[in-house]
Amino acid sequence: MELTINGKVHKVDVDDDTPLLWALRDELKMTGTKFGCGAGLCGACTIHINGNPARACLTPIAAAKGAKITTIEGLSDTGDHPLQQAWVKHNVPQCGYCQSGQLMSAAALLANNPTPSEKEIDSAMSGNLCRCGTYPRIKAAIQDAVQ
Ligand code: FES
Repeated sequence: MELTINGKVHKVDVDDDTPLLWALRDELKMTGTKFGCGAGLCGACTIHINGNPARACLTPIAAAKGAKITTIEGLSDTGDHPLQQAWVKHNVPQCGYCQSGQLMSAAALLANNPTPSEKEIDSAMSGNLCRCGTYPRIKAAIQDAVQ
């Protein structure tokens, strides 16, 4: 099967019902997308499918066929997406494990709503868990990137 990821076509030879997360990490070695719970509960595996946030652990690759998939590796060519800059400025990560998923959720939010309210930020980010409790810095970074 062919998948379009970060603007490039990749061939993967796995069953149609294989979760996209497995194809990304194990077949294509794109390990920026993280495996947290594997059950759609934590948000660590958040990617974009046609610009919308999606859980790669719950997305069978058959459902991603023909779609435009973006992973953290493709959020910006040079790592200077406004959110990535704000993440660095606010020193957001602690252990870092959940942060690519956090960034992808935040990036989808700003792409679809460039000036979100605090409530909209909370709502958009509510599905992304952080064991280190970096939530205040995440919110501050998003608000900074909005300005
Ligand atoms: Fe997909 Fe937790 S690994 S939501």
